[in-house]
Amino acid sequence: MSETGDHGASIELESLTKSFPGSARPAVDNVSMEIRAGEVVVLVGPSGCGKSTTLKMINRLIEPTGGRIRIGGEDVTDMDPVELRRKLGYAIQSAGLFPHMTVAQNIALVPKLIGWPKARIRQRTEELLDLVGLDPGEFQGRYPRRLSGGQQQRVGVARALAADPPVLLMDEPFGAVDPITREHLQDELIRLQHELRKTIVFVTHDFDEAIRIGDRIAVLRERSRIAQFDTPEAILTDPADDFVSGFVGAGAALKRLNLTRVRDVQITDCPTVTIDDPWQQIFNRLRAGGTGEVLLLDRRGRPCKWLRRGDLMRARGSLARAGTPVHDTVTRDATLRDALEAVLTDKAGRVAVTGRRGEYTGVVDMETLLNSVHGLLEADRLDATEHQHEPAELRAARKHPERQGGQGVTGAGGPGGAR
Ligand SMILES: Nc1ncnc2c1ncn2[C@@H]1O[C@H](COP(=O)(O)OP(=O)(O)OP(=O)(O)O)[C@@H](O)[C@H]1O
Ligand SMILES: [Mg+2]
Repeated sequence: MSETGDHGASIELESLTKSFPGSARPAVDNVSMEIRAGEVVVLVGPSGCGKSTTLKMINRLIEPTGGRIRIGGEDVTDMDPVELRRKLGYAIQSAGLFPHMTVAQNIALVPKLIGWPKARIRQRTEELLDLVGLDPGEFQGRYPRRLSGGQQQRVGVARALAADPPVLLMDEPFGAVDPITREHLQDELIRLQHELRKTIVFVTHDFDEAIRIGDRIAVLRERSRIAQFDTPEAILTDPADDFVSGFVGAGAALKRLNLTRVRDVQITDCPTVTIDDPWQQIFNRLRAGGTGEVLLLDRRGRPCKWLRRGDLMRARGSLARAGTPVHDTVTRDATLRDALEAVLTDKAGRVAVTGRRGEYTGVVDMETLLNSVHGLLEADRLDATEHQHEPAELRAARKHPERQGGQGVTGAGGPGGAR
């Protein structure tokens, strides 16, 4: 295992078992699983099934009573646990920040322990706060009690990433925040992972969260026994048994929308003008556009208002008064479900797509979304009927050649599925 892995390391669990003293049955019973370098694997299962225990055995916060753990090919089962933990990032529910330390001190914890020079720590702290969307100037000196729940979670994630570990273990890290903040944090994690390519093991009991962020999902039953370990698509469209279907729950077709991103559908262009354009030019654009509508952008290219011809007449020369403000946009990384939501709440049935700095990049509309969804569901159906007798790992390998198959396939390959 490298000291600072800019990319992830594989994790292999071999017959991992934990029997707590005094318990009749093991809490984790003989679990074997291979997690490839750079992939996000979500452990999902009912309360008490052994998810946290499994996760904590990977960084040896809990000592296994049987089995082996290999990280990046190296057997770490007998390695000094303190040493091991410094090399693995760990983020938990309710962030677990130290209340008597500032945000910066919390983040600097591991880098300090492993003896990084002060200047490097300071630079790293600022870089990480930026990365998780918190202004360093504003936040680094604050104490955790003066942060919102979502902000605390972000600091928790920054702290876990501090020493640039190849592996990130996350135990219900977003469990304590409201659903909207939670979706934001999930999207941010996906974006971060796009850049960082860590190996992430993420525990949740929320199946929707699992399909949103997992490259593969392990559905666990009691004693952490694996009911199915496969891609979200395969689990949604072809659950292994009744236990898994029970967990997937109703609305599998709608959940499918969480698996597709805006960038995977056709993004169209619409006529645009900017707030500095002269009236006449805006009129000309409207006449030439054919749609009777243009999108007004601000000076930084961000969508601001939808303008129709009548709007201009009524507002008598004032752009400030004219048109319908854009109240919702989506990024290319947003899920189709987010896009559909935005389109459904928009009177004209479309939503602007924006880039990283909020700048306009295109539009998706209802028709495009409906066509894409029909196409996806149809493809799923065909796939499920044509290949229903095929073993899960073959099917996953065929559907996702970049992910190189399912459970039991050795993780020699590169990073997990692209988002
Ligand atoms: N320190 C301990 N001593 C004895 N039993 C324990 C200990 N920690 C956990 N257990 C037991 O092991 C089993 C698995 O617990 P674990 O915390 O791993 O579940 P979990 O899947 O994370 O559940 P949840 O979703 O509620 O967090 C439970 O039956 C629990 O009671
Ligand atoms: Mg738990």
